[in-house]
Amino acid sequence: MLTRRALFAGGLGLAAAAGANPARAAVRRAPLSDPFQLGVASGEPAHDGMVLWTRLAMDPLAPDGLGGMPDREVPVQWQLAKDENFRHVVRRGAEAARPGAAHSVHVELGGLDPGAEYFYRFKAGAEISPVGRTRTTPAPGTRATPLNLSFASCADYQAGWFTPYRRMAEDQPDLIAFLGDYVYEYGDYQHPVRDQAGGECFDLAGYRLRHAQHKADPDARLAHAIAPWVVVWDDHDVDNAWAGDVAEQPGPPFLERRAAAFQAYYENMPLRRAQKPAGASLRLYRSVRWGAVANLHLLDTRQYRDLYACTGRSGTVGPDCLDRFAPNRTILGQEQEGWLDGELKGSQATWDLLGQQVFMMEMDWVNGEGKGYSNEGWDGYVASRDRLTAAIERYGSNAVVLTGDVHSHWAGEIRRGSKPVAVELVTTSVTSAGDGLDEYPNTGVLLAENPHVKFFNGRRGYVRARLTREEMRVDFRSLERVTEPGAPAYTSGSFVIEPGDPALKPA
Ligand SMILES: [Fe+2]
Repeated sequence: MLTRRALFAGGLGLAAAAGANPARAAVRRAPLSDPFQLGVASGEPAHDGMVLWTRLAMDPLAPDGLGGMPDREVPVQWQLAKDENFRHVVRRGAEAARPGAAHSVHVELGGLDPGAEYFYRFKAGAEISPVGRTRTTPAPGTRATPLNLSFASCADYQAGWFTPYRRMAEDQPDLIAFLGDYVYEYGDYQHPVRDQAGGECFDLAGYRLRHAQHKADPDARLAHAIAPWVVVWDDHDVDNAWAGDVAEQPGPPFLERRAAAFQAYYENMPLRRAQKPAGASLRLYRSVRWGAVANLHLLDTRQYRDLYACTGRSGTVGPDCLDRFAPNRTILGQEQEGWLDGELKGSQATWDLLGQQVFMMEMDWVNGEGKGYSNEGWDGYVASRDRLTAAIERYGSNAVVLTGDVHSHWAGEIRRGSKPVAVELVTTSVTSAGDGLDEYPNTGVLLAENPHVKFFNGRRGYVRARLTREEMRVDFRSLERVTEPGAPAYTSGSFVIEPGDPALKPA
């Protein structure tokens, strides 16, 4: 209880101020003093360590993306403690926050106790950061420690308040997975719920500024401070519907834009050195292990995918065509497919979670007569999906796919032929697409025509799961509105999945 009170009190200073004014928030430049306005974060937990993160910014919305920081190195001290009052500090150190990294700090720690909770903070000059809570994963082979995991995607600043982040933080999960569209590169909307700073992101300054505005959000700060995160990107972290080396629209050289987006992504996320970009390349696919309970494989379906089938354009649900079945097509790229096969083959855990971006189960999006499939999800890369489902069958994996992207909750079964081999849980957006509805007029028809799909909810929110070696329990969490702050969350659907049976059972 002390933990919760201290963290939420610490994190709530900004939140209370923002919450008190539900009117549309103007883009306001913050006071030029506190360098920790972007909060703190941790990520990439292992049984012996994790990454601690902060980024200094005295003026988060400075147009050059550099947060109002001086053009020089700033020394930052950090502490890791067993308790939130820092009476029992177990590690301490110092790092230089460099202008070339937008004054971000990544502290990669090893040698810590497994399955342990820790608290951390930073100091720059006389200023001390808020306190973050983090943890290591259970020791390899540990069977008894459950995993409380929440996951989310799609946080469009202009579309609403990040209340789902706050509700997710209040659950105090062990781990938070973010499945893409952490920022949107878009320019300004005509009628935004909240005004963003800067126009469409094309260069490093633009992406840095966009990330800074998101990190300065009080609800986002709370969610980052409560638990370690693992993150993967989707299209909007770079450019709507980008695929491999190809932008959505002709424009500035795309690989330069992609390199800028990747650089800002690394700077602003609690990632390990292994995820440091080299120009326009960044290896984002990797695994996080949770004792003998779960392996979480984080996938990148953007950087290595083939171009869109059938029409060449993204997201289109058009007349079917044979292109999407071409056996050489891939959404992961050959190297990542091989890596994932090896991960599944060697997995010793009960559950293999696949954290990724786009719809994997087959989905006919056309109501009534005829069929139509989106070529942006795995339906546009059928051979890739076949190779993956074959691997899941071959290795007897209890695979659960965690997906974002479509701004609504879905749950269903992924089939190989007519046989279910895995379960897919699709989380809705944090804000993207506005308030939404629980159901739409065509929801019933879509579910009836896709009988392997078991659940839909069209509000904003996140998904909360509890995994043991015996079962995985899932709550779809929904909020009635994000166009005003403060909405409570409710459970719109609950399911249980059991090992050896890739089916969704009502909880
Ligand atoms: Fe999105």
